[in-house]
Amino acid sequence: MFEHLSAVPQDPILAMLASYREDTHPQKIDLGIGVYKNDQGDTPIMRAVQQAEARLLQSETTKSYTAPAGSPVYNERVAALVFGAEHPVLKDRRVVSAQTPGGCGALRMAAEFLRGCSDRSKVWVSTPTWANHMPLLGGAGLQICQYPYYDHDLKAIDFDAMLSALETADRGDIVLLHGCCHNPSGADLNREQWLAVAELMQRKGLIPFVDMAYQGLGSGLDEDAYGLRMLAERFPEMVAATSCSKNFGLYRERTGTLFIIAANAEQAATAGSQLFSKIRSHYSMPPSHGAAIVETILGDPALNQEWQTELGEMRERISGLRQRLVASINASDIDADFSFIERQFGMFSFLGINPQQVERLRLNHSIYMIDSSRMNVAGLNDACMDYFVSALREVLNS
Ligand code: LMR
Repeated sequence: MFEHLSAVPQDPILAMLASYREDTHPQKIDLGIGVYKNDQGDTPIMRAVQQAEARLLQSETTKSYTAPAGSPVYNERVAALVFGAEHPVLKDRRVVSAQTPGGCGALRMAAEFLRGCSDRSKVWVSTPTWANHMPLLGGAGLQICQYPYYDHDLKAIDFDAMLSALETADRGDIVLLHGCCHNPSGADLNREQWLAVAELMQRKGLIPFVDMAYQGLGSGLDEDAYGLRMLAERFPEMVAATSCSKNFGLYRERTGTLFIIAANAEQAATAGSQLFSKIRSHYSMPPSHGAAIVETILGDPALNQEWQTELGEMRERISGLRQRLVASINASDIDADFSFIERQFGMFSFLGINPQQVERLRLNHSIYMIDSSRMNVAGLNDACMDYFVSALREVLNS
């Protein structure tokens, strides 16, 4: 039966990474996949992660099975990081948490859970959104609707259009919101906008689903969680998926968390039983190593401080790069306004060039970004900035 299969195109982000790795150009630049890079263009293991790993090698005593929910200590510590230790939903035991294989695992299991709640579940996602949201959520059988979000002409959120679209949602519909560092646009809701979205959703009986994959890489650990925490205070039911790929640099260790918030502790326990049964039938239980690292860091004040310091350095580096990129473009003879890049958050921004120009950057200059012109700003550094700006100038002027 395999002879009837047709090939599926590779995920555009992963395909781009493969092409970049094959390119032998000495000045090639990878602005494709969302990984943090330092000034040397490397994605190092974070200092606190290295120390935690060394400790684990000494102290780990077993590789026996864990459980579908993963490590309870990890879940508890990450919940405190995400919600804030004093958040009422934690005190009221309304949250059920599951350590998951990365943020993708959290998103998929959230979708499986929500699909299990109702076979008419619809989820609204921003246009644009992360390319993998569609298969992760749609693959579980959720019906996908879209609300306008980033306006490529305005280079900003079209907030009125977003609200108008959500006004048409039906009671019980789920709304996926990026907690911070919107992927792919870098354009985040401000606090006033978060509150307006919350008001609309409460009035219409919609259910928040927050994907927060970049906590700490926008404005700060607490600042970035503002929307998620505020929604959790107001809504009886909510879902949140988070990731340790970026803020702990644990990409390949597949470390994420899914939180389901129910109206009360009893309903949370029942929801947990549903969720853990779904996990058991998908991958049984999550991998342990990345979560053990995070658990170790969050449980040790010195390591935690070291981690937060390095995360702060990464965040500052990205915002500094945003400023230096805009300054370099302004200092060149490029006659276009790229100042929006400084007003955006996290790793990504749309450069705002067309797919042919993106292709020319790739073919003529070995500069890689997604066809939509989403660029990972963290892939730039001072050594390649002039090369990048002169390549951009060339494609804009040709
Ligand atoms: C990205 O958007 O580039 C990252 O989230 C990595 C991925 O898996 O797509």
